[in-house]
Amino acid sequence: MNTGLGLFTFVVFTRTAYCLWPYSFHASCKIDWSFGLNCTHVNTEIVSQIKKWKGPDNCEQGGQKCLYELIFSNETFIQATHTTPVKKYIDDMTFHLQVNQKTCSVQGNSESRVWYAVLDYGTNYCNLHNIIEGAGLDKAPGYSEDTADKICTQYTSANCEVY
Ligand SMILES: *[C@@H]1O[C@H](CO)[C@@H](O)[C@H](O)[C@H]1NC(C)=O
Ligand SMILES: *[C@@H]1O[C@H](CO)[C@@H](O)[C@H](O)[C@H]1NC(C)=O
Repeated sequence: MNTGLGLFTFVVFTRTAYCLWPYSFHASCKIDWSFGLNCTHVNTEIVSQIKKWKGPDNCEQGGQKCLYELIFSNETFIQATHTTPVKKYIDDMTFHLQVNQKTCSVQGNSESRVWYAVLDYGTNYCNLHNIIEGAGLDKAPGYSEDTADKICTQYTSANCEVY
């Protein structure tokens, strides 16, 4: 009886906390992009940017634009990891590409492997955004980026030159 009540209280409490908390419970980020380019072009640019930032070199002056690792790619799907230079936390990343008339729609996802990571200073956002920006795809015709704090931890306060 007591255990039942305790469990009930716990469930109510965590549900309430979840509703009041503006971020998703686990540090992660989902982004929808649109580019006025064909998906073959977008795919090639993303993959080559991930490869360009494979080693640690580009982080010697700080920042996070290094230590990416391409795991898998085909025409519609790219999978990679990003390791934070100092603490060596690993984040898993995916890009799903879809032809949408004359544009290419891409859904990006980045998620911290450490289950207790709740706040990430925008790291998961920057993991994704830095690749797009590094490849110059943010200058593509018809570029748009759509996300929000609820689906992308600390998106509005992210500083991608640092995290
Ligand atoms: C995609 O775009 C690239 C670069 O603009 C171009 O070279 C290529 O021919 C295009 N591919 C298709 C299938 O339209
Ligand atoms: C690409 O790989 C993904 C994941 O393995 C798979 O679901 C998808 O069907 C593949 N697409 C193509 C065009 O081969």
